[in-house]
Amino acid sequence: MRLFLKKITHPFLKLGLKLFYLKPRKYSYDGIKVLVHPEVFPPHLTLSTKILLDFINPMNLENKTLLELGCGSGIISLYASKKQAIVTATDINKIALQYLEKASLKNNLDLEIIQSDLFDNLQNRIYDYIIINPPYYPRTPKNTKEKAWFCGENFEYFEKLFKQIPNHITNSSNVFMILSNDCDIEHIKSITSKFDLNLKIFFEKKILGEINYIFKIASK
Ligand SMILES: C[S@@+](CC[C@H](N)C(=O)[O-])C[C@H]1O[C@@H](n2cnc3c(N)ncnc32)[C@H](O)[C@@H]1O
Repeated sequence: MRLFLKKITHPFLKLGLKLFYLKPRKYSYDGIKVLVHPEVFPPHLTLSTKILLDFINPMNLENKTLLELGCGSGIISLYASKKQAIVTATDINKIALQYLEKASLKNNLDLEIIQSDLFDNLQNRIYDYIIINPPYYPRTPKNTKEKAWFCGENFEYFEKLFKQIPNHITNSSNVFMILSNDCDIEHIKSITSKFDLNLKIFFEKKILGEINYIFKIASK
C-alpha cells in the first residue's frame, strides 16, 4: 500500500497525469460517452471503473434502485441507467456532477444527480444496489480533486461510510465496493466490524500484478 502511495505521488507519474489531464478527456463504454474534467477521477488510466462496469454488465438491473456513491465521471451510473435501473449518482465534487448532467442529456439517459458528502443528503433512502469505488489511500486530501484518492489520514471516509450504510440498506440490498491489494484492506475490514457489517470478497480480478477485489457489504 505504501508502495503504491509512493507510486501515485511519484513526480514522473504526477507529471504524466497532469499532462494527460490538462484538458477534459473522453471516456466511453458500451456506446456511452462522457467527458472527464481534469478535476475529476480519471477512469482512463485506472482499472477499477472498467472492472465495475464489466461486473454490472450481466446483471438484471431493470427497475432496481441503484446508488453510485461517489460517481466521478458517472459512467457507471449512466451504464446502470442504460440497463434500466433507477439511478441516483452522488459525489462531493460539483464539477463531476455538472459534467455528468451534460453527459446524461447527450446520451439521453435519465438519472438523479445529488451533491452529497457520503449519505448526508440521502436521508431515509434505501437502495437495492449501492456501488462504491472509494478513495483508499490514508492521507488527508488537500482539495476536492484529491478526495478521489485519499480517504483521510485515519481512514475517516470509511469510518463515516460504514456508520451511515446500515441506514440505507435492507437484508436484500446488494452493496458492492471495489478495493485493490494496494490498499490496507485489513484496516478497512476492521472498521466494518465496529459497525456490525461484514465485508466478503465477491469477485476478484488480477491485472498486471494488481488484484482488485469487489467486496459485498452486508449487515451481520
Ligand atoms: C475513486 S473515485 C471513483 C469515481 C467513479 N465511481 C468511478 O468508479 O470512476 C472516488 C469518487 O468518490 C468521490 N468522493 C470522495 N469522498 C467523497 C465523499 N465524502 N462523499 C461523496 N463522494 C466522495 C470523489 O470525488 C470521487 O469522484
